[in-house]
Amino acid sequence: MERGKWGSNFGFLLAAVGSAVGLGNIWRFSFLCYKNGGGTFLVPYGLAMLTTGIPLLILEFALGHKMRASAPKSMHAIAHDWEWVGWWPVIFVMFGINVYYVVVIAWCALYMLYSVQSPFPWEGNTETYFYHEFLGLTDGVFDMGHVSLPIVGMTAVLWLVLWFICVRRVERGVEVACKIFMPVLFILTSILVVWGLFLTGAPAGVVQYLKPDWAKLGEVQVWREAFGQMFFSLSLGFGIMIAYASYLPQRTNLVRNAFITAIADGGYSIFAGFAVFSVLGYMAHVKGVGVDSVVKSGPGLCFVVYPEAISKLPAFNSVFGFLFFLTLVLAGLTSAMSIIEAFVAAAVDKFGWGRTKVVTVVCLVACGGSVVFTTGAGLLWLDIVDHFLNSYGLVIVGLLEAILVGWYYRIDHLHFHLSEAKQGRYPMAWDVWWEWSVKFVAPTALAIILAWSVMDEFAAPFGGYPTEALVMIGLGWVIGTFLLSGVFTVFTKHRDRDLASRAD
Ligand code: TRP
Repeated sequence: MERGKWGSNFGFLLAAVGSAVGLGNIWRFSFLCYKNGGGTFLVPYGLAMLTTGIPLLILEFALGHKMRASAPKSMHAIAHDWEWVGWWPVIFVMFGINVYYVVVIAWCALYMLYSVQSPFPWEGNTETYFYHEFLGLTDGVFDMGHVSLPIVGMTAVLWLVLWFICVRRVERGVEVACKIFMPVLFILTSILVVWGLFLTGAPAGVVQYLKPDWAKLGEVQVWREAFGQMFFSLSLGFGIMIAYASYLPQRTNLVRNAFITAIADGGYSIFAGFAVFSVLGYMAHVKGVGVDSVVKSGPGLCFVVYPEAISKLPAFNSVFGFLFFLTLVLAGLTSAMSIIEAFVAAAVDKFGWGRTKVVTVVCLVACGGSVVFTTGAGLLWLDIVDHFLNSYGLVIVGLLEAILVGWYYRIDHLHFHLSEAKQGRYPMAWDVWWEWSVKFVAPTALAIILAWSVMDEFAAPFGGYPTEALVMIGLGWVIGTFLLSGVFTVFTKHRDRDLASRAD
């Protein structure tokens, strides 16, 4: 069967940016700025992008494009024994991160529908409503409470939508969806930003978001968070960008594509921050308190603070609420579909199964997995799985990728490929920067972050959860998916002959 092919480079870019721009850009980035020195945070963030993010993005693009293969097959081509470095991320993102990510999108979709009800169901106390009535949150990780029917229902609907998109070949599925979703997402965000900036108190919020505090540059924690956010946001170490690049035509400018993707992702984060913080400024104004007392990130921002702001807006409350949650849904869906594509590409590459069959099975299994996160303990499970997969899974994969390509495979192979694909000069001007970043800076930064996480883990149990819960759920997920990647690796061998020629 012939591989999918993007209809155009622009379609590829929309899909890559669609994967990168997700909930994290909206509910986390601006909070990190606020917490870590306002506008000053852009310095570590920008440096993280230049020294690790963009170089690794170029690496993933180059790898997928040169091998014309998904992550496992690409890794196999450069080092047979390390094929699992390709399998592990697509497995744990697909059957870990994505499984709860879709549940969070379902919360957003439900809140979007609730926004047009009057009165709003959260009226009165948004916090009690969200945690107790909406989620039915229990007291402990092993007290599952009950499954919330609206959430399960919506989660199933979203998996069906994702199935519907991904079951088609990439140029008719993901590409078409991103060509519709991404422009709409951008327009919606612009509306929210302009609307927000006209609210009273907005300037005070924006000041809190961006007020520089240069002293923060001296705190290592700030740098760690900049690297972590950048890495997650660019979908690095997910195996996604490798698969996406494999659908590009032979002649393409991968370096430029990497820069555009990274800049669009960072730019979107900064832009969306204005919408978030102008509304926070408005809330502080209405309540007569300082902006600091209303600031939250993650679910607390979207489902506690924002609903309250929506209730308190002077006019068109429902419209604002609807548009805000729709923005989150669209941003989330384009990320969620990207990992399905990456996993499916991997399975099709290796086993030669039909696409329809793989997508159907994968979506069904993952949808079943999502049910855990719709129970009363769902938010707690989400917190734990999220922490472990992000702190260990993604970072280890990024580290191994950089080391294997930089030191084992020899980076000039890819370097030559980049100039060949572009039909440009070799070596290229940025030769040294890329090579040094991949070989030295990125592995060092990732190794430090990893070591630090391990130390933190032993210093105190994450989030105050009981140790047995962390080991069973968090470590269990990390190790379980790791073992599974081993199984997938040894299952059958890739047809080595056609790959061997591509690896040189
Ligand atoms: N980059 C996204 C964000 O910032 C996260 C993401 C990318 C993601 N691809 C994904 C999450 C696939 C789940 C599945 O939020």
